[in-house]
Amino acid sequence: MELSRNETLVLRFLSALPDNFVIERNIAIDGLDERAVSSAVSYLIQKDLVLHRFEATPEYSLGREGIAYVQEKLPEEAALEILKAAGKAELSAISDKLGEQGAKIAITQLARLGVKPSGGTLAVDPAQISILEKEISRRRKLLEDIRAGRKPDEGPVLEELLRRKDVVLRNIRKSREIKILRAGLDALSEGGDKIENLTAEVLQSGEWRTRGFREYDLNPKRLQDYSFPGPHPLTLFIDRIRRIFLQMGFREMSGDYMETALWNMDALFIPQNHPARDMQDTFYLEGDIKHPLSRKDREYQKIFSRVHEHGIPGYLGWGTKWDSTESERLLLRTHTTVNTIRYMAEHPEQPQAVFSVDSVFRHESMDWTHLAELHQIEGAVLSDHVSLGTLKWIIREFFTMLGLKNIRFIPSYYPYTEPSMDIVAEINGREVELGGSGIFRPEVTLPLGLKHKVMAWGMGLERFAMLYYGLNDIREIYRNDLGWLMTYKIPLGNKK
Ligand code: PHE
Repeated sequence: MELSRNETLVLRFLSALPDNFVIERNIAIDGLDERAVSSAVSYLIQKDLVLHRFEATPEYSLGREGIAYVQEKLPEEAALEILKAAGKAELSAISDKLGEQGAKIAITQLARLGVKPSGGTLAVDPAQISILEKEISRRRKLLEDIRAGRKPDEGPVLEELLRRKDVVLRNIRKSREIKILRAGLDALSEGGDKIENLTAEVLQSGEWRTRGFREYDLNPKRLQDYSFPGPHPLTLFIDRIRRIFLQMGFREMSGDYMETALWNMDALFIPQNHPARDMQDTFYLEGDIKHPLSRKDREYQKIFSRVHEHGIPGYLGWGTKWDSTESERLLLRTHTTVNTIRYMAEHPEQPQAVFSVDSVFRHESMDWTHLAELHQIEGAVLSDHVSLGTLKWIIREFFTMLGLKNIRFIPSYYPYTEPSMDIVAEINGREVELGGSGIFRPEVTLPLGLKHKVMAWGMGLERFAMLYYGLNDIREIYRNDLGWLMTYKIPLGNKK
C-alpha cells in the first residue's frame, strides 16, 4: 500500500490511540494544517485504512450576558452579597444596586434556589448561605471554563445556564471521527515512509538507496472526475496570436532551433565581443560538428566582415577585427529575429509582413519572470511606410485585439535597430519587459540588398501569457497544475 507523507503522519498519530475514535479536528500534527489533515483522512477512508463516523458534538460559548457575568458577577451572586450583610434586604435596595433588569434576574434565580421574597423583603437563613454560595460558584466555574475554551461539565448546572437568555450558547457541530483499522496499522508497519519528492537532500544523504519512492497514483478512475475545458492554455494563446497576425495580413515564417552565429548574430550587426554572445546567454553547441557553410553563406561572411570592420557608406562599423570562425559556431537560436533576417535576405524586394511564434533558448537561471526555454512572438514588416509611429501603432493594435491595453514603450538599445523601444507592462505590481522592437539599422538592411525599411519586434510569449491569464509566476505555465488547467479563464472578449 502506497502512502503519502501526510497519510503516514495521520496514521502514525492514530496508531497511538488504536481503540479510540478521534475527532478529525483534534488531530494535531506539526506542519499540517486542518485542510491537509482533512484531505489525508479522506484518502485513508478511501483506502479502507481507517473507520469513520459522523458524530454530533456540542460546542459551547458565552453569550452577551454570560460574558458580563464572568467579567463582573452573576446577578444572584451580587444579590446574595447584599443579603449576607444583614440577612435580609428590601427589594428596592437590590434594584438600586443591580438595576431593574439585574434585580429581576437575581430575585428569580434566588427564588428558584428557595429564597423567596415576602412583603417587599428578601430574607435569607444564615444556614442556607453556604449552600447558595456553593451553587453560585459552580455556575461561575462553568462560565469560566467556557471562557477559557475548556469543555464544561455537562449536567444540571449547564442545563440551567443554557435555559437563561444569552448566558451560554450551544452549537451542535457534526464532526468526522476516525479510528485506525488493522489494515492501517499494517500499512504503517510495511513502511509508509517512502520518499515523496526527489530533492537535493535525498540525493546527498543517500536515503534514495534504502527508503524507496512512493509511486504515482495514476488511477484513471480518479482522473475521470477531471474535465478539461480544452487545450493547454498556452496552445490556446498561441492559436489566438496566430489568428490575429493572419487577420492582419501577416505571413507565417519558420526556422531551425540550431543556428550559426553568422545568422543569429553577425547578420544582425551584433558585435563579436558583445556580452550577449558569451556563455552567459547563449547555448553554444559543443564538439567538432563540422557544419559546412553553404557557398552563399561564405559570400555573406565576406559581406558581414566588411560591414563589421569598416561599416557602410556614411557609417563606421565596429572597427574591430571580425573573426570568421566565431561566425561558424553553432548555437541554439537565442531569438527568432534570426528567422526574420533570414526571411528578409531571401525576399529582399517586395513589401511584406511576416511573423512567427517559436522556441528560443537562453542560458538563464529560472525565476518568476525567466525561463531557459521560451517562445518568442516575432513580427516584422518590410515596407516604405515603416516609421516609429506605425511600429507603435501596430504593436498597440495587436495588444488591443487581445484585450490588453496597459502597455508602455520605453527607449531601449539593440545593436540591430535604431531607434529601439522596449514594451513593458505591469505584472505583480512590477514593471516587466515583454519584448523589444525597433527599426533595422542600415548596417543590417543595406548589405542584404533590402529595398525597403524594416520594423520588427520580438516578445516573450510566456511573460505575455502571464499578463493574459493573470499569473504571478512564469513557471506556473509549465507546472501543469490540474487545478489551473481546469479553471483558467480566458480574458474578456476573447473566445476559446
Ligand atoms: N530580438 C530581440 C530580443 O530577443 C527583440 C527584438 C526584435 C528587438 C526585433 C528589436 C527588433 O529580445
